Amino acid sequence: LNAVNTINNHELVKFKGFKLIMGIHDPEDVDQICNLEIRDSDVFVVTYPKSGTIWMQQILLLVEAKGDLAAISTFSNSELIPWIELDGRRQAFITAPSPRLRVTHLQYKFMPAALRQKKGKVIYVARNPKDVLVSYFHFHNIANMLETPKDFADFFEKFLRGDVFGCSWFEHIKTWCSQKDDMNMLFITYEEMIQDLKSAVERISVFMERELTDEQLANVVKYSTFKNMKKIPQANYEHVSPKMFSQHRGRFMRKGTIGDWKNHFTVAQNERFDEVFHREMKDCALSFIWDI
Ligand code: A3P
Repeated sequence: LNAVNTINNHELVKFKGFKLIMGIHDPEDVDQICNLEIRDSDVFVVTYPKSGTIWMQQILLLVEAKGDLAAISTFSNSELIPWIELDGRRQAFITAPSPRLRVTHLQYKFMPAALRQKKGKVIYVARNPKDVLVSYFHFHNIANMLETPKDFADFFEKFLRGDVFGCSWFEHIKTWCSQKDDMNMLFITYEEMIQDLKSAVERISVFMERELTDEQLANVVKYSTFKNMKKIPQANYEHVSPKMFSQHRGRFMRKGTIGDWKNHFTVAQNERFDEVFHREMKDCALSFIWDI
């Protein structure tokens, strides 16, 4: 990543209604993403931050490698499946060999229109937003490009207002899902993956049009469990400069559960969250698993 020296400014710049992080995103570059030509073999993993991005990177890499962990161990997940919006990654995308696998936190409006003509594939990973909020709060403590929250209560309000990188969780999921039927999209939730990883991996490999033997499938599942990913340096971005992430303050593979919000929310915060959720999501047919 370029410009690591400027990341500690925590500067968010609003560009077309979406807050970018200075030193990591270049608005002019982001603005050009919509002009990229899409190949049928392209795959975009779309997530709101903290919804299972690295997990899906791990699964896709293992599916491509037919379950061979050693084959994906030389580089980190983010080098092998980069964020399209990071400074300099758009140019590399143009000439990259197929299949081009990418992740993005961007809103739909920045993406190439061809996706809506069912060119390429989109995997939208959604997670219940109470757990997203908690995971995001902890992430702000290790990610040096993001402002360290004053306290949980302060971050809670910021999250609900969408006063964070990008946009609000509600806006992200609603805008992407409103285009769902026009796209070649697999919509999958973090909770489904937790509850039945094998079925999730099967669905993903079918969507990717990759045939796996039972043994290969079992290996993909094995190396993408939380327990195993916790031990894999590449999945924890351990190589990334401490200027970017202060990993002594927390880990990428933090807790990996459903319902950690219950350990953080007060009763009043929970009521307030539910009220905002129902208001924002009233026209959206999605349902979430909040605890197990
Ligand atoms: P927690 O902070 O709740 O533990 P992202 O990759 O989008 O930043 O998401 C990070 C979240 O996904 C973290 O959540 C992380 O622990 C969780 N995660 C990553 N790999 C996982 C896995 N194999 N199983 C369960 N959760 C996983």
